Amino acid sequence: MSLTQTVHVDLAERAYDIHIGPDLLPQVGAYVAPLGGRGHVCILTDATVAGLHLEALKAGLAQAGIGSDALILPPGEATKSWSALEQSVEWLLSQKVERGDVVIAFGGGVIGDLAGFAAAVLRRGVRFVQIPTSLLAQVDSSVGGKTGINSPHGKNLVGAFHQPSLVLADTALLGTLRPRDFLAGYGEVVKYGLLGDAAFFEWLEEQGPALAAGDMVARVQAVTRSCQMKADIVQRDETEQGDRALLNLGHTFCHALEAATGYSDRLLHGEGVAVGCALAFELSARMGLCSQEDPSRVRAHMRQMGMKVDMADIDGGLPDAEGLLALMAQDKKVLDGKLRFILARGIGDAFITSDVPSDAVLGVLQDALELKASRG
Ligand code: GLY
Repeated sequence: MSLTQTVHVDLAERAYDIHIGPDLLPQVGAYVAPLGGRGHVCILTDATVAGLHLEALKAGLAQAGIGSDALILPPGEATKSWSALEQSVEWLLSQKVERGDVVIAFGGGVIGDLAGFAAAVLRRGVRFVQIPTSLLAQVDSSVGGKTGINSPHGKNLVGAFHQPSLVLADTALLGTLRPRDFLAGYGEVVKYGLLGDAAFFEWLEEQGPALAAGDMVARVQAVTRSCQMKADIVQRDETEQGDRALLNLGHTFCHALEAATGYSDRLLHGEGVAVGCALAFELSARMGLCSQEDPSRVRAHMRQMGMKVDMADIDGGLPDAEGLLALMAQDKKVLDGKLRFILARGIGDAFITSDVPSDAVLGVLQDALELKASRG
């Protein structure tokens, strides 16, 4: 019996399906062929993913008579750059990609964001298919149409909303992830439960260990529920005028910690999201918005999963509380000079607010830093 699930993203003329299952790559040709094109696609990928899975992707396309060429870029965040964008667009032009053609983004969040942006600007927009290979990309970055690159001024500062025509999340590909990368992506999965679905969080408390150990039914279910929640939010607010910011639960803290650690291997984005979610719940409890038990329960689940939970879990030094607050203020989510937080009235009940006293934020940061200092 096929485990494949489908989530429809209902965006009128930009609507598309997300298919989730463990056996999609061999069938990729059958999914891509109905999009048309000239029986040939261009693939953007990175060297790690190409080494593991490019042959299988090309074979799956060939099954439906679709030829393919691939540009293999270096793995890592540095590839979300102006120079890699130029290289990608010029390569696609050299491949004579036309308006009716299809570009495939085959990789994690970096490749998805870069390839999506290249597709958005190439000939004023060509269609693209996301085939996300990391858990983070399957549950977050491949869905919703945010594309872009980093600038020396900050992350994701140059980009466009450009929805994919199709997303194929092959959950079998998650088997080749390093456990650390899998758990970082799981931080985004937990985020969905925390922001809007208490029953899903409870399910993760029960199923999380099996899911991490490789239970495919649980993996498909977790990716599907995450994509469904993201689709619901993106349908309400495609360009983040309001509700879409709920997806940024934990991100105000996360961005400060990522900046403080130089966007390096010291803290992966999904790890920062998890630590940020724990801090957002702590702040919510201290402001009397949710019960004291909620942050403890959030942390207990993350601990059980072996995730980074506290600032104390981040190796090396961090700026003091004022320094971290200053880094938060540089985030692009600052509106009219006011820090915007996603806080919670309880697990599964997040909301957006700019009404957060700096003293409360500083208190949470100071205590987290003290715990870190006490652990040496
Ligand atoms: N990753 C947040 C968003 O897509 O809006």
